[in-house]
Amino acid sequence: MLRIHLRGLILAGGFATRLRPLSCSKPKLLFPIVGMPLVESMARWLSSGGINQIILAVNHLSDKLKIEVGHHVAGVPVKFSVEETPLGTAGPIRLAANLLGRDDPFFVANGDIVSDIEIRHMLAVHEETNAEATIALVSVPDPSPYGSVLTDPNGKVKKFEEKSAVLSATSHVNAGVYVLSPGVIDSIPGGRSVSLEKEVFPKLVRNGRMQSWMHKGFWYDIGRVSEYVRANHELLEKQELKAAKPVASEDGGEILRPSYLGTRTHIGVGAKVGPLAILSDNVSVGDEAIVRNSIIFEETSIGEKATVEGSIIGERVVIGKRSRIGNGSIIAGQLTLPEGSILSPNSLILC
Ligand code: GTP
Repeated sequence: MLRIHLRGLILAGGFATRLRPLSCSKPKLLFPIVGMPLVESMARWLSSGGINQIILAVNHLSDKLKIEVGHHVAGVPVKFSVEETPLGTAGPIRLAANLLGRDDPFFVANGDIVSDIEIRHMLAVHEETNAEATIALVSVPDPSPYGSVLTDPNGKVKKFEEKSAVLSATSHVNAGVYVLSPGVIDSIPGGRSVSLEKEVFPKLVRNGRMQSWMHKGFWYDIGRVSEYVRANHELLEKQELKAAKPVASEDGGEILRPSYLGTRTHIGVGAKVGPLAILSDNVSVGDEAIVRNSIIFEETSIGEKATVEGSIIGERVVIGKRSRIGNGSIIAGQLTLPEGSILSPNSLILC
């Protein structure tokens, strides 16, 4: 059925504690995925499936998101629903009832998903099976950090377990993307934090009104650092070298593929960038500096002869000349490291 309104609500009010210290100054939805803010990557995906209105359910760092996102992302109109206190994963849906409307099914997605889940197909299954909720499932090599879902042969959900410790290797996990019929909104208690997974879905499962849909394409939950890095590397490798007009100095540096350079990046004379260097917009790499296997957020500057390996550096960081950033380090945004700083492997420099 052709729908005039297809709305998608992105849950973006969590504290992203597992991405600290990078998330102290940057909401998860603005984390770069091969240089593109996650919110833009999600908006492109949702709109490719026909979603023509995005609602961002926010509280933590909501002002930053409002400023950065404005009224449109990737051509899709955006409305904000702002919580005074965190309402969990279901409470924000109830709070946004007026924006979601009462007539059509709508999508809900966790605000940390990078995927090509087929929105139209999922919606069709939701309607064909007359479900109240349809959940996207994925198969992952290690299901232990995720909620697992058991289904019958027709895909009807039989059991929903959140982050269960005991899982079979064949468990299908919750991909964090749902289609909900408007009636679900009324089943969510108002005025308090409510969990979709613990409170809303179990009731629907008991009533036999929860369907699943198996996703076979790509899917990343970037809520953990290891998955954030994996998503960036795998997507980068898919895209290959995308040198979006780098402004190299006269001689320029050496760029080893695969690497990504955002717009207005500056690579100094004799610098070595890559492989697996992902530089967001306005990053500057000084003369003879080395940046390898690292993700550098926007407007960060790496001084002359500095070395950054296997690390993630937040936005607007200044790394002094001749510094050495050891493998596995993470530096929070907006910090300055003085000249000659030496960080041993796996250092965390907090905000
Ligand atoms: P961690 O602190 O690292 O667990 O991160 P998180 O709370 O952001 O993520 P979690 O996986 O627990 O939550 C799944 C999704 O729900 C994320 O996109 C969160 O932003 C979102 N979320 C969690 N709690 C709330 C809330 O109280 N309000 C809103 N609007 N979104 C929430």
